[in-house]
Parts: sequence; C-alpha cells; structure tokens
Amino acid sequence: MSQGVYQALVSGNTKLAVVGLGYVGLPVAIEFSKYIQVIGFDIDQKRISAYRNDIDLTKAGGEGKISNSVIEFTSDPVKLKEAQFIIVVVPTPTTEDRSPDFTALEQASRTVGENLTIGSIVVFESTVYPGVTEDLCAPIIEQASGLKCGIDWKIGYCPERINPCDQIHTFPMICKIVSGMDRESAGEIQKVYNIVVKAGTHLVSSIRTAEAVKVMENSQRDVNIAFMNECSKICDKSHIDTYEVFTAMNTKWNALNFQPGLVGGHCIGEDSYYLLDYAKKIACDTSVLSHGRLVNENMASYVADRAVKEMLAVQKDLKQASVLIWGVTFKENCSDIRNSKVADLIARLRTYQIEPIVTDGWADPEAVQEMYGIKLVPFEKLPLADCIIIAVSHREYRSIAIEQLVKLYKNNLQNAEKILLDIKSIYSLKELAASGLRFWRL
Ligand SMILES: NC(=O)c1ccc[n+]([C@@H]2O[C@H](COP(=O)([O-])OP(=O)(O)OC[C@H]3O[C@@H](n4cnc5c(N)ncnc54)[C@H](O)[C@@H]3O)[C@@H](O)[C@H]2O)c1
Repeated sequence: MSQGVYQALVSGNTKLAVVGLGYVGLPVAIEFSKYIQVIGFDIDQKRISAYRNDIDLTKAGGEGKISNSVIEFTSDPVKLKEAQFIIVVVPTPTTEDRSPDFTALEQASRTVGENLTIGSIVVFESTVYPGVTEDLCAPIIEQASGLKCGIDWKIGYCPERINPCDQIHTFPMICKIVSGMDRESAGEIQKVYNIVVKAGTHLVSSIRTAEAVKVMENSQRDVNIAFMNECSKICDKSHIDTYEVFTAMNTKWNALNFQPGLVGGHCIGEDSYYLLDYAKKIACDTSVLSHGRLVNENMASYVADRAVKEMLAVQKDLKQASVLIWGVTFKENCSDIRNSKVADLIARLRTYQIEPIVTDGWADPEAVQEMYGIKLVPFEKLPLADCIIIAVSHREYRSIAIEQLVKLYKNNLQNAEKILLDIKSIYSLKELAASGLRFWRL
C-alpha cells in the first residue's frame, strides 16, 4: 500500500474488520462504523443472524444501535480480505484446571492469517499475558498467510477495558492503551483508535507492556476485593457491620472504595489466572495474588454456609425449606452468566440437600440450563420463601421496597424466622433492622 492504513481507512480505500462480536467486539464495531467501513466477523452464525435483525443477544445495549450502523455482518472469513485493519477480540477463558485457554485465539489467528493481505495491521484486544500476541498469535498468522510479520504486515495489542453492560464507561469513553510492534505500526494504530476514542489513547512502548497493563489492572481489582472479603469476615465475627465500616473508611481522600462480593465473570474472575500462569512460567512469587484468588473462590461457599447457619438457628428443616436465589448473572443489569459464582453458591447449598429456586430475568434460561443445569423460574412464579438470597443487585430487585419483600415469605412465619441474605447490601442497615427480618450481609 502506498498510503498508510489509517489514511486508507479514512479515505474509504480499505475496511476495518472486527473478529469476534461478543460483549466487546460488537460495541467496537458499532463505534468504528460511525466513521469508517466496518466488517463484523464471527464464527457464530446464530449471532450474525441476530445482529442482522438488530437483536443484541448480549443484552448489552446494542439494540437500535445495530440497525443504525452500517456494519457488514458475516461469518464468511474470505470477507476479511477486504480489510487491512483487523481487530481480534475473541474469548480467552480458562480451562477446568484454571489454565489459560487459547483455543479461540489460535483459531482466530489462523482465520486472519488465511485471509491476510500485504500491508495490513492486526490488533489483538483479547486479554492475555505478556508475550502471547507476539509469540503465539503472530507465528500462527505468519504460517497461515505465508507473510512475514514486520515486513509484509504488522501487529499490535490494545487491551479492551470496557466494563460489561456499563452504559457510562463505554468503549469511546475509556482511555485506550495502544501498542504496536514498532514505532510506525504504533503510530498508525493510535491514529485509528483516535478516530473513535473520545477519552484519548495512551501509547505504551511495547506490546508486552500493553499486555501486562490489562492483566495486572484486573488482577489488582481481584486482590483488592479479596481483601474486602477478608475484612468482611473479620467484621462478621466481631458483630460489626461491614458496610458501616467501609462507608466511614471511604470518607478518607485516598480510600479505594472496593466492596466485598462474589467475584465471577469473564474478566476479574479469570484474568488473575492468566497472570498466575505467566508468573509461574518465569518463576515469580505470587503469594498475594494466589491467596487473594483463593479467598474470592471460596466466597460462594462462605455465603452458602452462612445461609445454612441462619436457617438452622431458627430450626428450619433444610430439605423442606423454600430457599430463593435472586440473580444468577455474574453482575447486575447484565445477561452474562459466564463463571457465575452464584452457580457455586447453588452447588454448595445442594451439598446440604437444599434445592434452591433461582430467578433472573436478565439471564437466558436456556443458557443457564445448559451451562449449569439450573432451571430458572420467572420472578412472578416464585413460591413464598423461608430464605431469600439476593445474590445480584439487578435494578428490578433494588426497586422492591423492604415492606414488599417481607410479604414474599411464607405467611405462617414470624418476621424473625424470615431469612434474608442481602449479599449486595441493596437495603440500608436501618431498613433491615426496622423490617424485623433475620438478615445477614457481607
Ligand atoms: N466482557 C467484557 O466486558 C470484557 C472486558 C474487557 C476485556 N474483555 C476481553 O475481551 C475478550 C472477548 O470477550 P467477550 O466478553 O467479548 O467474549 P464473548 O464471548 O462475548 O464474545 C466473543 C465472540 O467471539 C466469537 N468467536 C470465538 N472464536 C472465534 C473465532 N475463531 N473467530 C471469530 N469469532 C470467534 C464468539 O462466537 C463470540 O461471539 C476476552 O479476551 C475478554 O477477556 C472482555
């Protein structure tokens, strides 16, 4: 190409392709399509047909925006030949034994390689650890394309930092970390992201640095939440309300404002395992991170055990008790059920022969059944309860006044026998105390 990729994009002489159109890829494609020509490629044909019909299966706010955009949605990899700026944002989960699973990344790299044209730039956004882009992905692309990285095409890494289902911190509103294999590619990549990212771009000196940024910023959150979880247990044993402590702590100018909770999902709950794996490979100590991860992994059992203790304290028959769980997604107002810690909570309750009844209007019932073997019950069809565990603070649950909540328990119970575990503290301490319910929160 005689002109740079950025110039070719803005003058309409080439296209940008997004490979992987999930929670991250779809908003990226939508934003770029406001300014330049975009191809949206995904191997999931069901997803492609849904997008063509303006249906956002992720429920992350894409509806309406999809039909207003001019993305060429396709599952035909050959279309990628029309693009010279290719963004790859496919899943990077962990395996059963919590090792990084690069299957999708390898497959996508192969597809990109098979359809790569000379002069292209390939940018990875998937979360990985230092070295993966250059040592794993680049060689696969080289092999599949027969084109030499650095000579025929270039590579970069720009981690995605969106907060799933957050309508305020959206892709254009978050500073973008950018990196390229050399000064020329880094400059081109930065110019391309500057087209859409209003919050600005932050160039780092190498791809490995950018990879470290992402995996470390998420691991930092993981460790901080783990410490809050530990504090919550200390407060509990001391009969001190954790939230009262944290609210008071947060009056200090340098307080960090982390909350205790169940750490699930595709990012925080997974990314630390990538960093742990990397640190192990280079023989670095990870006592803080490893222990933090363990604390967070055990929180679901801790909550389940607490529910059992509360029920036994008021002589409930565990096998007969009606235990309702509100929310199964990994976070509020979001449909994503991957790595849901509520599933762990349910599994632990089952070890006590409790069969909880689970509701979640955000989650796809079929997906929940398939992934966890849990049958969701619509909220309005829930039976009256002995114990309610509010596991996820969806806005619909937040809108339920405590006076209404009290009526959702079995009629024959005294308020003191009605058990509430308000994991996300959606009610204030004052409301909880006034309700007369037997309550517990982290
Ligand atoms: N979800 C988030 O909020 C978030 C935030 C920051 C970073 N990330 C990172 O972004 C990456 C993607 O996450 P996501 O949440 O968008 O995942 P996702 O599962 O929602 O979407 C990934 C998409 O990639 C598609 N895909 C899988 N293999 C493919 C292939 N070989 N070729 C083309 N498409 C393929 C899937 O069909 C799916 O539609 C991960 O590395 C994740 O850690 C996610």
